[in-house]
Amino acid sequence: MSTKPQSSSGLEGIIATRSAICEVDEDNCELYYYGYSIKDLAENSSFEEVAYLLLHGKLPNKKRLESFKKKLLNERNIPEKALDVIKRLPRDTDPMDVLKIAVGDLQTMDPDASLNSNEANMRKAIRLIAKIPTVITTHYHFIHGNIVVKPHKELSFASNFLYMLNGKIPDDYESEVLDKSLILYAEHELNASTFAARIVASTLSDMHSAVIAAIAALKGPLHGGANERAMEMILKIERPERAEEWVRNALLRKRRIMGFGHRVYKKEDPRSPIIKKLSKGLSERRGERRWFDISQIVEKVMNTEKGLHANLDFYSSSAYYLLDIPILLYTPIFVVSRVTGWVAHIMEQYKDNRLIRPRAEYIGPAKREYIPLEDRS
Ligand code: CMC
Repeated sequence: MSTKPQSSSGLEGIIATRSAICEVDEDNCELYYYGYSIKDLAENSSFEEVAYLLLHGKLPNKKRLESFKKKLLNERNIPEKALDVIKRLPRDTDPMDVLKIAVGDLQTMDPDASLNSNEANMRKAIRLIAKIPTVITTHYHFIHGNIVVKPHKELSFASNFLYMLNGKIPDDYESEVLDKSLILYAEHELNASTFAARIVASTLSDMHSAVIAAIAALKGPLHGGANERAMEMILKIERPERAEEWVRNALLRKRRIMGFGHRVYKKEDPRSPIIKKLSKGLSERRGERRWFDISQIVEKVMNTEKGLHANLDFYSSSAYYLLDIPILLYTPIFVVSRVTGWVAHIMEQYKDNRLIRPRAEYIGPAKREYIPLEDRS
């Protein structure tokens, strides 16, 4: 006798696979990448170190880090043919759709496209991590008629992104804020986009295809799209004096406040205090506290009225705003970072693969007789 499948809405609480990459300890509000606390990583590491950790399962020593950084630096440019494809896209193409197209296009030009060995996948992973920021800023400049800023040959990963976007080398603190936010966004166990990537990888499809699926999943406002919506809300609120009433009204109208709540963390998202501190630091340095002050009031009302806590997306939105990052790039920046987690999961899936093929609990009509077309009323 076959066992009856058990269903769970949104697969909540279901352990769908085993993974050594990330541990979410929701009871103690902690998050670990390969056993390292997110607090230690954000405090002491660079994004490049964390990317290495996710790809290799261990932190690099100085020599390995330098060599890894060099590999990333050497892969920052995107081929002319890929630039042409991006140029020809309609101007109003959503940047997340641009990324799906660009990753598909980069696949056709990847020298390892036909290979699926671990070594080839490691090279593909490095190319994807290095090129995605260039795709995003290049497309942004194309649609705004700006001169495209080519990747810098020396700057760190985070500094180079801000440089390619704003055309000037960021100061150390700005660079640090982006760098740390990328560390926080890099990996998060079986979130929807990572699961999508693993499902595709489990069919033994290629890495680029799995990343495209992940980007598609991340685009949604319940996942990566929340940071953009959160900033739009903060801008609409406009002034701290309006914040409390605005949120209360929105809650009365049963609206979802983006950047709050989490499927797993019901107490606190451990990444949130880290990004909050960075957003505050940036506000003070810029002498522009308005967005941070509004955010704090929204957070307080959400805590008291709904018992909901800010997730990573909430304070990253005001931090990105203060870094002069256009709102429509907030979710693509999530890709810049999370692609490291995706490729780590894709390679882990390949290493011990079993096709992911769950069951559905059938809730459709009972068995019925087939009526030929000519006899149907
Ligand atoms: N604003 C208002 N109410 C909310 C919110 C919110 N942001 N989040 C949850 N709730 C309420 C929801 O209305 C429901 O209330 P009730 O039981 O009265 O109907 C209750 O909380 C449970 O909601 P749920 O949707 O069943 O909970 P979930 O575990 O499926 O939600 C979530 C997780 C992230 C989809 C949800 O909290 C949400 O929609 N948040 C806003 C979007 C967001 O910030 N997403 C980013 C998530 S973190 C980054 C990432 O991983 O991508």
